[in-house]
Amino acid sequence: MFRIVCNSQKGGSGKSTVCRVLSVHAARLGFSVYLVDTDTQGTLTQWHEARETEEPRRVELTRDVLGKGMNALAAQGADFVFVDTPPNASEHLDDVFELADLVLVPIKPTPDDLKAALVTVYRLKSLGVPFLFVITQAIQNTNITAQAIAALSHHGSVAETILVNRVAYPSAFTDGRTPQEIEPRAPAAREIASLWDNILSYLHTGTVETRSEARG
Ligand SMILES: Nc1ncnc2c1ncn2[C@@H]1O[C@H](COP(=O)(O)OP(=O)(O)OP(=O)(O)O)[C@@H](O)[C@H]1O
Ligand SMILES: [Mg+2]
Repeated sequence: MFRIVCNSQKGGSGKSTVCRVLSVHAARLGFSVYLVDTDTQGTLTQWHEARETEEPRRVELTRDVLGKGMNALAAQGADFVFVDTPPNASEHLDDVFELADLVLVPIKPTPDDLKAALVTVYRLKSLGVPFLFVITQAIQNTNITAQAIAALSHHGSVAETILVNRVAYPSAFTDGRTPQEIEPRAPAAREIASLWDNILSYLHTGTVETRSEARG
């Protein structure tokens, strides 16, 4: 089972969105997928409560039992757990980071967001936790996105697929769905599927697999 944590200290970077769209994609592919919301804002929880379909399932695990809870899910045969986090990358999240096989760091391509993301990266590097940047809410055909990717690639791997700013996201979220559930053939759905493929490739690199297997 892979434990995927979404974090960036910048508010509104797309943490809850990445958890929502990737967990739905993986569940639709037939994987056993669970969500955990560790953010008291409850964005992920509220979205999940509005859903009509059960998958992906959500479990309530407080931070003090997160590790044990995830081990129990692994023992039940779960394939993936996505953990949403508050906009905070201080040492107060170290316990969550240490449980992760991979931390996804969503970033809007703006100079302010880039600066904020580097604080998260500093923590993850000092803990030795694998991470992958995911560019979100990008405005199409702008140089600033290419500049952001170039700048980020000095600090770590950047997912090849970019999530473009599209109205399908807020539209779908209003009733607990995701873009691929309202428009399966639209560009947002294709980008989400492609991002999932990037992440699966990354998960199957040696480092990530070793962490997961070492924990059982
Ligand atoms: N690709 C996108 N296109 C359009 N809107 C998007 C996209 N990704 C995210 N959004 C919107 O941006 C807002 C912030 O996204 P989200 O809630 O995922 O960020 P967050 O990092 O979880 O925020 P917080 O720090 O408050 O937890 C939401 O309203 C969401 O619908
Ligand atoms: Mg959030």
